[in-house]
Amino acid sequence: MAEKKEKFYITTPIYYTNGLPHIGHTYTTVVADVLRKYKKMRGYDVVMTTGTDEHGVNVERAAKKAEIPESEFVARMADAWRALWDELGLTADEFIRTTDLQHVRTVQWLFRLCKENGYVYKGHYTGLYCIYDNAYVSEPKPGNLCPDCDRPLETVTEENYFFKLSAFQKPLLDFYKKFPDFIQPESRKNEIVSFVEGGLKDLSITRTTIRWGIPVPGEEPHVFYVWFDALTAYLSAVGGPEYEKRGMWPADVHLVGKDIIRFHTVYWPAFLMAAMLPLPKQVWAHGWFLMDAAKMSKSKGNVVLPRPIVNMLGMDALRYFLLREVVFGQDGNFSYDALVTRYNSDLANGLGNLASRTAAMLEKSFAGKVPKPGAFRPADNALAKEAQNAIGEVLERYDKYEFARALEAIWSTIAAADKYLTTEKPWALGDSPEEESRKATILWTTAELLRIVTVLAHPVLPESTAKVWRLLGQTAALDATEMDGLRWGQLVPGLSLGKLQALFPRVEKAEAIERIESMANEELHPAPAAATPAAGAAAAGAAPAASPSEKIGIEDFTKVEMRVGQIKTAERIVGADKLLKLMVDIGSETRQICAGIAQFYEPESLVGRKVVVVVNLAPRKMRGVESNGMIVAASIGPEGRPVLAGFTEDVEVGARLK
Ligand code: MSP
Repeated sequence: MAEKKEKFYITTPIYYTNGLPHIGHTYTTVVADVLRKYKKMRGYDVVMTTGTDEHGVNVERAAKKAEIPESEFVARMADAWRALWDELGLTADEFIRTTDLQHVRTVQWLFRLCKENGYVYKGHYTGLYCIYDNAYVSEPKPGNLCPDCDRPLETVTEENYFFKLSAFQKPLLDFYKKFPDFIQPESRKNEIVSFVEGGLKDLSITRTTIRWGIPVPGEEPHVFYVWFDALTAYLSAVGGPEYEKRGMWPADVHLVGKDIIRFHTVYWPAFLMAAMLPLPKQVWAHGWFLMDAAKMSKSKGNVVLPRPIVNMLGMDALRYFLLREVVFGQDGNFSYDALVTRYNSDLANGLGNLASRTAAMLEKSFAGKVPKPGAFRPADNALAKEAQNAIGEVLERYDKYEFARALEAIWSTIAAADKYLTTEKPWALGDSPEEESRKATILWTTAELLRIVTVLAHPVLPESTAKVWRLLGQTAALDATEMDGLRWGQLVPGLSLGKLQALFPRVEKAEAIERIESMANEELHPAPAAATPAAGAAAAGAAPAASPSEKIGIEDFTKVEMRVGQIKTAERIVGADKLLKLMVDIGSETRQICAGIAQFYEPESLVGRKVVVVVNLAPRKMRGVESNGMIVAASIGPEGRPVLAGFTEDVEVGARLK
């Protein structure tokens, strides 16, 4: 390994702040995160940046609608984006906001360089402008509609500063030729090359019609065109004018969606050429996730949200699905059906099952220790060869951004191990020394394969592979394990195994989909605050209590019907760690009720217990599970620990409380 690590700088686009992330945005960020983890495991010094694109008319309008200043609006939105990425475990090294001072300075500096080098001039511009895409449109659709988003265009005339994009036709074409990998995938490259060959018009890079933007120094009311502003974020995130000190620029890869490739492969390199700054090494454009064959957008009402999926199936499941389901670079359809099918087949039955089978056999036969293998037979050697070959193949696939193929190769070794166990049948072997030794060889071989799979799958499945890693008794940090040093045969006999935590509990498809959709619905159309006591609140105490001075009449109290109920069954709910699902007999019937007490009561301890139930509450869904009533509990201490109300005498089920 070289003394000084080679650097690798990855960017995601900076996201617009007039909406919140859906699965499309999550996709780009997940890929960046996978790449960040992968490159670290290949020994690089990696920086990954993301952020928010906060200027422009759309924000101006959204803030006006929300009746708050733009600065406050974007601060809230940036917090929401950052919080969601954190919740999803997507860790960027830098989160850049275009309202950050560092960024403002960088944009003004870049403009000055372009101007000093003679590539900026003042002129007038009249054109049709799409305020949603922040771009002038030269070929509108009939009816003056935007060809990209189908929304009405606006005619705009203004005095602008222009960037001499026309001067860069030849330099750009030469650059694409000299660096044939700059635009990926190849199909996109052809599209861009023909666009540039068709001739480039100068580009207006300042606006006077917009107020909410970065001011052009000394030229107020000019503010920068959002794309001149936004693209520069890649540079401001790693030092701006002092980029050389940080040593990360130029970017090694800009990950983008195919809709914004032109900005990244034509405008951005031209701005940098004009300023005589180093150019990014690569722009990788992925396709879209489509819903019902259309690009997701809130206005079409076909967005898929990440949070409900993660609540139900876990973050690793979402990451796996996004990368496994479509070839990186192409469009793909998103469907909950396919998501849950893959979850059950590849994760629960594939990796999850192999890990739990292996753990159980090692526990039973070798007291939870990695056994010392005996003599290897051809079947063992064949599996070893398959796993060893997979290492090379998987690394090559990751390097080429062929994530689906990398996962396919990993999963085919998992399938090979399943087959190996089925043929070798370690469970059928007895206690004689020969049979013990054979069992040790088979289980060591399986555990070793699992170790290799764990390292290789870690960039995509960080949470679950960390669990398998601990199971295998490994103490070194998994994310710092160098993939280049990975070889068959490194599993040390004698290691004590850790405990296996549940990896991917199998789910019932229809129920899982219903719950994901219902959680998404709750998130997209939140009920008014008063109607949704926090999920953690189990009791009537959760509803806003009347203040002590405010008295209610008996007629108000009698509206609440409370009965004695008896808990028949209690179970945890996948994806909702605070909730228990209870079946409660209330005399006349048995009700399904959700209670936010899972962190304080073991489900088994509740069966048979008599409780107080509010029976005439309107049904509602909690984390996608229907709840018909409420269990009464006291709320104790500052954290509101629930203590179930009950009786010291035996009381009849169904009795009414008065
Ligand atoms: N703010 C600009 C980017 C400026 S970068 C200097 C922007 N923002 S965006 O929020 O609209 O989109 C960001 C990214 O999300 C784009 O790469 C876009 O392609 C991606 N996606 C948005 N919807 C998508 C899908 N349905 N599927 C996959 N990715 C898509 O553009």
